[in-house]
Amino acid sequence: MRANKAAIDRDTGDARVHFHDFHPAPADLRAEVLSGLALKQKRLSPKLFYDARGSKLFDRICELPEYYPTRTEIGILERDGAEMAALLGRDALLLELGSGSSKKIRVLLSALRPAVYMPVDISREHLLESAESLAAAFPDLDVHAVCADYSVPFELPVDDHDHPRAAFFPGSSIGNFEPAEAERFLKRVAGILGPGARLLIGVDLVKERRTLEAAYNDAAGVTAAFNLNLLERVNRELGGTFDLDGFRHEAFFNETDSRIEMHLMSTRAQTVEVAGERFAFAEGESIHTECSYKYSIERFQALAGRAGYEPERVWTDPRSLFSVHCLVFAG
Ligand code: TRP
Repeated sequence: MRANKAAIDRDTGDARVHFHDFHPAPADLRAEVLSGLALKQKRLSPKLFYDARGSKLFDRICELPEYYPTRTEIGILERDGAEMAALLGRDALLLELGSGSSKKIRVLLSALRPAVYMPVDISREHLLESAESLAAAFPDLDVHAVCADYSVPFELPVDDHDHPRAAFFPGSSIGNFEPAEAERFLKRVAGILGPGARLLIGVDLVKERRTLEAAYNDAAGVTAAFNLNLLERVNRELGGTFDLDGFRHEAFFNETDSRIEMHLMSTRAQTVEVAGERFAFAEGESIHTECSYKYSIERFQALAGRAGYEPERVWTDPRSLFSVHCLVFAG
């Protein structure tokens, strides 16, 4: 897919952000929701999470005391950023997939000194706000913001092979893919970047159930609000009739598959209408909204290996909660 409009440059004082809009398709929202709700185990696409409100809620999840991944990963980046920068090299073209508020990359930018920073995110306003504030903080940096769905193939809007290429994929978002999908995704990233490129990727580690489950069941209920926001979005955008009091957030660790599963559970028997179609729920029946796979270092390296990457280095925190891998695409 190509950006179908010329890049729009946004001038914000001294800082310039080149903006490339791939118009990630909300077109099939209706079809996706209707087919998901028609499945035996009902599903709603996790892509629906990140509307403006969802993105803000997710930023709050990252600050929760129970949600250890964000702060642990940032701790690793702060402690070992210089080593990471040495491996990735100066003047890189640095792609960030699902950049959100671009908070983590800030930790690395002064050590890394890339020539081009290319944040990719599906949430347009969030992307632009973050890209502009980042460009203001790093006036020498060439920022190309790309509004795209990174789970769908897209081309780099800057076709410049003078720079060593690298991608940054933090937050254990790789864990939100099914393992087979994760492998395909890593292959696709390799295809975008080319041989010799490096991937710096954050991966949450498997650990005892209590810590994992607390991270997805915070006491303040922010994760619940984030999950339930899906239903609000369906109500708003597809004329749904979900009663938010009739559904409950549920998250548990499925040890067999090494993943946290997020569900919205119907607290009673009820019928819901979406875009003119009716869906019946039994009491206790759930809509599956997302998985978050947890890996050991070895199992993640094996998966990346199947996608053509060689492990170069891995960093963890003192409690081995989280890992950051540097992988090289051998080509
Ligand atoms: N990448 C995050 C994770 O798997 C996404 C996430 C955090 C999430 N909390 C959530 C997704 C709650 C759905 C519901 O850790």
